[in-house]
Amino acid sequence: MMHSLLQTFRLIANPTQFLEDCANQYGDQFTVRVLGINSPPVVFLSHPQAIADCFAVPAKELDFKKATHVFEPLFGSSSIVLQEGRSHNRQRQLLMPPFHGDCMKTYGQAICQITAEVTQNWTQGTTISMQQVMPDITLQIILQVVFGLSPGARYQKLKELLSSLLEDVTKPLYSTLFFFPPLQKDLGAWSPWGNFQRRREEIDKLIYAEIDERRLSHDASRTNILSLLMSARDENGEQMTDKELRDQLVSLLLLGYETTAGVLAWVFYLIHSHSEVKDKLMQELHTLSDTPNSETITQLPYLSAVCQETLRVHPIALICTPRMVKDTVEIASQKFTSGTVLVPCIYLAHRRAETYPEPEKFKPERFLNQKFSPYEYLPFGGGYRGCIGAAFSMYEMKLVIATILSQFQLELADNHPVYPVRRGITIVPSGGVRMFVTKQMNQAKNFVYL
Ligand code: HEM
Repeated sequence: MMHSLLQTFRLIANPTQFLEDCANQYGDQFTVRVLGINSPPVVFLSHPQAIADCFAVPAKELDFKKATHVFEPLFGSSSIVLQEGRSHNRQRQLLMPPFHGDCMKTYGQAICQITAEVTQNWTQGTTISMQQVMPDITLQIILQVVFGLSPGARYQKLKELLSSLLEDVTKPLYSTLFFFPPLQKDLGAWSPWGNFQRRREEIDKLIYAEIDERRLSHDASRTNILSLLMSARDENGEQMTDKELRDQLVSLLLLGYETTAGVLAWVFYLIHSHSEVKDKLMQELHTLSDTPNSETITQLPYLSAVCQETLRVHPIALICTPRMVKDTVEIASQKFTSGTVLVPCIYLAHRRAETYPEPEKFKPERFLNQKFSPYEYLPFGGGYRGCIGAAFSMYEMKLVIATILSQFQLELADNHPVYPVRRGITIVPSGGVRMFVTKQMNQAKNFVYL
């Protein structure tokens, strides 16, 4: 077995290559020792049967906290991510409704409008970096649509503070602090942890001020998460405390915007580096009427396939939430004992040649011709820990792409190879995906929303 220090280094430095090398050498399942979580055996699973079995293990038999504790300083102890058992169940039930069905339709207009506003100064010859533009779009979408915050001083301040904090926590210094609690010492504003705490407090102040205002205004008609959570009651008739509300909001914000932005950067890169895909997509977008509604756009088959295939070939999260076995469990007829960490591996499940012939190739057509099971295709994880923002981010991505491509012709500014690089907990394209605006359409489609 490879030395654990070397394994950890390779996993952090070049995770996709490390996973591929392990899969080539050991097959569908392999065990590594990762430092930082007291070195228990970490078993990566990528066979659909093993992933199905893993998702089916009852929650009470697994411990998720050992892996999610790193999020606690940022998200707070009441975050859904840190809950287990009944408390986790209850929070999912509270959080899921605004991300589904009819609620989605009410978000279409804001998504297209924000995209149009952020891109309004683009003209022929403008150079942009998708890695900078996309988080700007997706953060504003989440602040307005999910939180119901309207543009203004608080909105602007929160936007700046969150994006700069998230930018910094992806850097090695901060990542190290999160993984090693003994380093989390507040030695004043200039010390790394002290600085982090002060910035977090500033963000919290703004969030608590918003919660206070909402409690006073009592607007039951608002269909955003914050309003829904504020009116929710648990089985004892208790309201969520301000701290609980804060923790959910911060978790949703931070999990929801960089992820979607990263996928969008990949989509624009992949479309523009595969001319046949771009032509087909543009043909489909041209079939839209001059005033398409958001439902029509989000149901376009090729646009959907492009998003699905992007998430297959470059899943923004390489793995599902790791889970530690409490007692013994059986996965694909094999027993795993207490202390073993099980990791359903999204990246490797998406690269199995049995499921996806020529897996490294970007071919959206796969998703037009075939349906894949939730254990073969799982960019949002699955089971009772699966992503609650999956439908929302797919909806959002399609509207952002359609809005931009119906207004601008773009070209990649660089032709050097792009490869996956780690940014915090996400895997994004290297080089920032710089693009030129080569043409601005005269008659952009005027999306209307139902
Ligand atoms: C393309 C964008 C996104 C991707 C690829 C993604 C992916 C994931 C993955 C892989 C997980 C872990 C699932 C598992 O362990 O089985 C997850 C969890 C989660 N995601 Fe997302 N996500 C995205 C967008 C969002 C958005 C927009 C939100 C909310 C605004 C969100 C909220 C969450 C939450 C709250 C969890 C934790 C669920 C739990 O512990 O029960 N995500 N996501």
